[in-house]
Amino acid sequence: MTAPARARGSQELIRAEEPVLAHNYHPLPVVVARAEGAWVEDVEGRRYLDMLAGYSALNFGHRHPALVDAAHRQLDRLTLTSRAFHHDRLAGFAERLAALTGTDMVLPMNTGAEAVESGIKVARKWAYDVKGVPADRATIVVTADNFHGRTTTIVGFSTDETARAGFGPFTPGFRVVPYNDLAALEEAVDETTAAVLIEPIQGEAGVLIPDDGYLAGVRELTRRAGCLFVADEIQSGLGRTGHTLAVEHESVVPDVVLLGKALGGGIVPVSAVVGSREVLGVLRPGEHGSTFGGNPLAAAVGTAVVELLETGEFQRRAAELGGVLREGLAALVGRGVVGFRARGLWAGVDVDPALGSGREISERLMREGVLVKDTHGSTIRLAPPLTVTGEELRGALGTLEKVLTS
Ligand SMILES: Cc1ncc(COP(=O)(O)O)c(C=O)c1O
Repeated sequence: MTAPARARGSQELIRAEEPVLAHNYHPLPVVVARAEGAWVEDVEGRRYLDMLAGYSALNFGHRHPALVDAAHRQLDRLTLTSRAFHHDRLAGFAERLAALTGTDMVLPMNTGAEAVESGIKVARKWAYDVKGVPADRATIVVTADNFHGRTTTIVGFSTDETARAGFGPFTPGFRVVPYNDLAALEEAVDETTAAVLIEPIQGEAGVLIPDDGYLAGVRELTRRAGCLFVADEIQSGLGRTGHTLAVEHESVVPDVVLLGKALGGGIVPVSAVVGSREVLGVLRPGEHGSTFGGNPLAAAVGTAVVELLETGEFQRRAAELGGVLREGLAALVGRGVVGFRARGLWAGVDVDPALGSGREISERLMREGVLVKDTHGSTIRLAPPLTVTGEELRGALGTLEKVLTS
């Protein structure tokens, strides 16, 4: 009999990753072993409040009982068919997701980048089949500082050199305009434009919230120009900002919405393109697909996610606790914080660069038991699970105050 493997500690596990894992990430030096709700625990048993929530993939916290239960029940019955066959979980998932988002149809995928790629393909197909753009001439207008994922097409229209450099040549057909600038958008849109693709709030860029009226302006402009409005709600959607979708803050209904992250309940990757029948109806058998897209396990968990959102409880919590987050951050302005942007339970916080980089602040917070992630320069972002309590949130803000002022 071989001796049971000795459990390795955090430092040893971090060192063990170095030679065998591609270095495409630079994680904080914490090794998580288990989690529940808003809390994670490392291999030594230290507890941390998760103020990142998997970039909003964990909107319902870690291992929400209803989601874990839905996954367990489905695991015991049917996990995968491929779309070569029908299965008994897909229709219900699509019906409920379409109803939740006020749309007609659903194209199920797995990751966020896949949903974006699928949205681009659908928009182009719509431009050729419905709008009548000449073959291979369709353009899509995107915004500077966007983040839509990591495939070659998507990084091709990124303005972040770290994301692009070394990965060309890129897919043509994209025009980049400044974010939050309707005049620039108006100029870029012409008869070849299939769609305008934007994040209603730019997450990776530092939780940049456009001026009031921008999203409504994009809606009005795209309608007038006869092109689609595609909203990437992969990070902003599904309760994070206090509404099911962030575009609801301006009562805007895009033609196509891209969803991901929280749709998988923090359990499985689930993404989707949702939109009108006129747009998603352009796809014919064989033109697009994914072996895992809409699989039974994903559909069961996705349906349970939709059920949680149908109650409205999580959107309400995000809106109410968003007030606590804003108040707490406002009190830190001039005391280590130079500015912040917040909507619902989501904030980008610009720390005084004299106090350290975003990474350094994140490491200090980690040592005090709070996990966050930096973005650019001295900006950190806060996006706790929507299940976080007011007390936990105030505790995290108190830790931030301590890190910035002591
Ligand atoms: C707005 C937005 N779109 C797309 C993506 C890509 O999602 P994924 O990492 O699941 O491919 C992300 C990921 O952070 C995102 O924030």
